[in-house]
Amino acid sequence: MGAGFVGTTTAVTFAELGHKVICIDTDAKKVESLSRGKPPFYEPSLKEMLIKHLEASNIRFSTDAKSAIEASTIIFICVGTPATENGDADLTYVRQAALSIGAQMNGYRLVVNKSTAPVGTCTRIQNWIWESQTNPWEFDVVSNPEFLREGNALFDFLHPRRVIIGSTNAKPAALMQNLYEGLACPIIHTNPNTAELIKYASNSFLATKISFMNELARLCDTLKVNIRDVANGMGLDSRIGSDFLEAGVGYGGSCFPKDVSALLQMAGEYEVNLTILRQVKQVNDTQWVYLLNKILSVMGSVKGKSLAVYGLSFKPNTNDTRESPSRFVILHLAKQGATVRVHDPITTLPSSLQLPAIRQCQTPEAAADEADAVVICTDWPEYRDIDWGAVKTKMRQAYVFDGRNMLDMELMRSFGFSYHGIGYSN
Ligand code: UGA
Repeated sequence: MGAGFVGTTTAVTFAELGHKVICIDTDAKKVESLSRGKPPFYEPSLKEMLIKHLEASNIRFSTDAKSAIEASTIIFICVGTPATENGDADLTYVRQAALSIGAQMNGYRLVVNKSTAPVGTCTRIQNWIWESQTNPWEFDVVSNPEFLREGNALFDFLHPRRVIIGSTNAKPAALMQNLYEGLACPIIHTNPNTAELIKYASNSFLATKISFMNELARLCDTLKVNIRDVANGMGLDSRIGSDFLEAGVGYGGSCFPKDVSALLQMAGEYEVNLTILRQVKQVNDTQWVYLLNKILSVMGSVKGKSLAVYGLSFKPNTNDTRESPSRFVILHLAKQGATVRVHDPITTLPSSLQLPAIRQCQTPEAAADEADAVVICTDWPEYRDIDWGAVKTKMRQAYVFDGRNMLDMELMRSFGFSYHGIGYSN
């Protein structure tokens, strides 16, 4: 249930694992587009895998919840849990899904919640199903959080680091174990509350690693130390691990910002103050400001100047711009009086950035033409392959602000650029 990012990738990959899948959504346009083999978002290889399973009749998309619920023993809830104004996860769509399952089921059902939702949501789902049942059919509710990264979702699903099954009963736990049979990874059985917390704790811990490095990068700028070398030296200790130590302009996307806020909110409701996590959010909320201030302190005012911004999505290999630090940087450069020329390999300007001072360019070279500075906000690999020597000859001034520390500082300076990373300028 739900043909968003999680629902669609889950549906397609379960088809790939040999199951018959019906994916339902209330959005008829989305269903129609998916039925024609067109996902409404970009995810590498998803389109090809979708078409393969549509052609083999392993998967179909529908708005008809009743038929899908009647035809399926296992039902995955994959609907959105957007943040409310105070940071809570909004369970409106989860509730709607549960009520519809209760009303339409015509025999035993295993209901699996994949939507990221606060501790206690499985119990709520159970209550909503009971509330809407017209016949007392048996059912179980299990928590099975997803750990898919946008841009790597198919790989992550087929090669998970772990599968978490949160259930209080042996029968549904065994059904779930069968479903994932063939995937070479540890399967952890736990109760639903623990499974739900594992999801929030995992995302929040990854966000903590990033904010730790981002704050340390600010110190590195002052001490004239290179954060990339610091990360390298730390990461080789397997207790620390080398992943998620890359300092930059901050984390974005539909998961980390929302999940950190939701965990803080949840803890607050139980009067527990997660002080570390509060700072993680604070560092991230100000990290794009740190980059902006760096630009202003190096260049002076940007009023009347032309700046090229590379990257709109919150990370490479996706066209998702939700909470992308790039959006804040672009908007504030324009507010400071700069002309901003934006490049992204696949993403187009969201409506909030369609302003006279902001223009999208087809190539990074075109965006840098006559520019005073290039600002990198997303580490698309193609930005490494640019002929930077040639780009420099076309620029008015040669400033590069690398908000992802992705370029080679020595090389860039050898071309004559005034190059500035985040904790990576010395
Ligand atoms: C994240 C988690 O990594 C997934 O395991 C999880 O399933 C998913 O959220 C979710 O809850 O659905 P995702 O949001 O797709 O996945 O993206 P990540 O690859 O985790 O990156 C998040 C942000 O952190 C990006 O803006 C990225 O640029 C930034 N980042 C990442 C850094 O700034 N530094 C790093 O070292 C790593």
